[in-house]
Amino acid sequence: MDQDALKRSVADAALALVEPHLESDMVLGIGTGSTANLFIEGLAKLAHRFDGAVASSEGSAERLRAIGVPVYDLNAVDRIEYYVDGADECNADLQLIKGGGAALTREKIVAAVANTFICIADESKWVPTLGAFPLPVEVIPMARSHVARELVKLGGDPILREGVTTDNGNVILDVYNFSIPQPLAMEEKINAITGVVCNGLFAHRPADRLLLGGVDGVKEFRRPASSLDS
Ligand code: 5RP
Repeated sequence: MDQDALKRSVADAALALVEPHLESDMVLGIGTGSTANLFIEGLAKLAHRFDGAVASSEGSAERLRAIGVPVYDLNAVDRIEYYVDGADECNADLQLIKGGGAALTREKIVAAVANTFICIADESKWVPTLGAFPLPVEVIPMARSHVARELVKLGGDPILREGVTTDNGNVILDVYNFSIPQPLAMEEKINAITGVVCNGLFAHRPADRLLLGGVDGVKEFRRPASSLDS
């Protein structure tokens, strides 16, 4: 099975998980990236079963509209039951690195609102310690050099992601050579640097469910107290 087939298997597993819980007034949160795109593709057949979606990027919003799903501004929505999104890395505590698609800030906002965050990933994303994937940090453009110097002090090698402007008009620094054994503390330290909008560590708000696709099938990992349990 190639990586695309594994991504499709977790997208299908997420559809099967959510489908029985859909309600006509429900708004879903939908993430960004190739795995989330496969989820959106599969969602087409369920578009009539829920009210609409909040998207974590303009790209995903367009894809949702194309399959007939109304897309709402988050400020017009008071409840998101399920947020489905991919990840660049995940660990045993369901903490993540996200932002490979430069959508980390909106992803973190939608995840913060959602009752249940379902992360979908192929098994290449599973790591014992976060940080092999360069950590994305969204930065206000005028603070780029200052933030880069501060990230070096924290032990990383930040590199500007060339040619990328986020949906929020900012730039991305990718931090290389940056093993992160304490994700909670590192998320806070990076957030405290003036000029940082958001960093791609999802430690304070990890996933509630992780569907991990491997050659032996999809494995499910969970944190307690998800609304899918009721
Ligand atoms: C986008 C993300 C994506 O979820 C992450 O990059 C995974 O992408 P893919 O599903 O294409 O492997 O965080 O900002």
